[in-house]
Amino acid sequence: MVPRPWAFRLAALAQRAVCCGLCSLDEQWAPAGARRLLCVTEDAPVRIRPEIAALPPYKQGKQAGTEAFKLSSNENPYEPLPAVVEALRRTVGVNRYPDATAARLRQALAVRFGVTPDEVHIGAGSVSILSQLMLAVAGPGDEIVYAWRSFEAYPGLVLVSGATPVEVPLASGARHDLDAMAAAVTDRTRAVIVCSPNNPTGPVVTQAEFEAFLAKIPSDLLVILDEAYAEFVTEPDAVDGLRKLGIADHSNVVVLRTFSKAYGLAGLRVGYAIGHRRILDAARSTAVPLSVTAQSEEAALASLEAEGELLERVRTIGQRRDRLAAALRAQGWSIPDAQGNFVWLATGEQTMDAAARFEADGCIVRPFAGDGIRISVGEEESVERVLRVAASLLAGLPADHPARG
Ligand SMILES: Cc1ncc(COP(=O)(O)O)c(C=O)c1O
Repeated sequence: MVPRPWAFRLAALAQRAVCCGLCSLDEQWAPAGARRLLCVTEDAPVRIRPEIAALPPYKQGKQAGTEAFKLSSNENPYEPLPAVVEALRRTVGVNRYPDATAARLRQALAVRFGVTPDEVHIGAGSVSILSQLMLAVAGPGDEIVYAWRSFEAYPGLVLVSGATPVEVPLASGARHDLDAMAAAVTDRTRAVIVCSPNNPTGPVVTQAEFEAFLAKIPSDLLVILDEAYAEFVTEPDAVDGLRKLGIADHSNVVVLRTFSKAYGLAGLRVGYAIGHRRILDAARSTAVPLSVTAQSEEAALASLEAEGELLERVRTIGQRRDRLAAALRAQGWSIPDAQGNFVWLATGEQTMDAAARFEADGCIVRPFAGDGIRISVGEEESVERVLRVAASLLAGLPADHPARG
């Protein structure tokens, strides 16, 4: 295989930080140059796959104390709706296993999106389905292509499948470079992940760009369109895997959505995939059985019924996001188009210091060392506090810093 200059093929774990899991791992997915050896692993009492022994565990956004705003995990700041709480209260038969197929939720989503229930798959969060799909299609010697920087779970999930991550740098504006991603596809590629809006930078892929991309790649290559933040999108040209795409026309595309973000059910772990029945059957085969609880299914069904009210909240969060992004730009920050429920500050080498300044002022944000800070759109009262810290940070950045607009 010919190495290509625009894609980083991560030959693997020699390049990854090695960690005991006890120390701070915020740097874990930093660019190779910025990675540091966090600590030395102890010998395990049994033989562990070497790539797993060297793989740091997934690190979630930092928790916040009672006084601080938690803006580190792109969660929904609203409390669950009364109808959702009531659905949970009704579902107390925890001595029984749940319906392993989540048939009622699949049926409801099938009706909504005009597909058959077999073309819907439910997982304990869409991240579970990502993992299932990778396990289904890829193994040692195979490659999975995605943009970088993107969702921090991608590299680890690829490595767990045994495959090699192929990370294609974002283009200007922190957008996917779909031409470079198409060019990164080789006969070893088993899947491509497209994240729209991209977490953590914010821009979408447009419908036209996505269709042009599909036309360039083999029609039997799995494309995972990760739309975890789709409901927050206001850009009319954005790709929409469920409204505009048509599964029949693109049977290699699987669309991932979640109840964690717009629907505010992150703590219950429920997400879904829409795609070709045979691909989803393969995901069902690699799934840990029975991991979607009856409570999650009931809460998701109740949320679909209360969708009008929930989407009103989503609109409010979207408007808050636009106000926050506009105010940051007015301060002089360069903010990529923010289409999810978060904004991105390209703080570069100053990232960890900047995150500490936010934290000291009661805003827990998500730093990616050497790269930037993702700030979730939280409670209304958090906006002013974020803006205050951001203004003082910018004043301390060099005049030619890339975070400036
Ligand atoms: C881009 C993206 N995809 C998928 C997920 C997984 O969401 P969940 O497993 O909660 O459905 C996240 C969560 O942050 C995300 O940002």
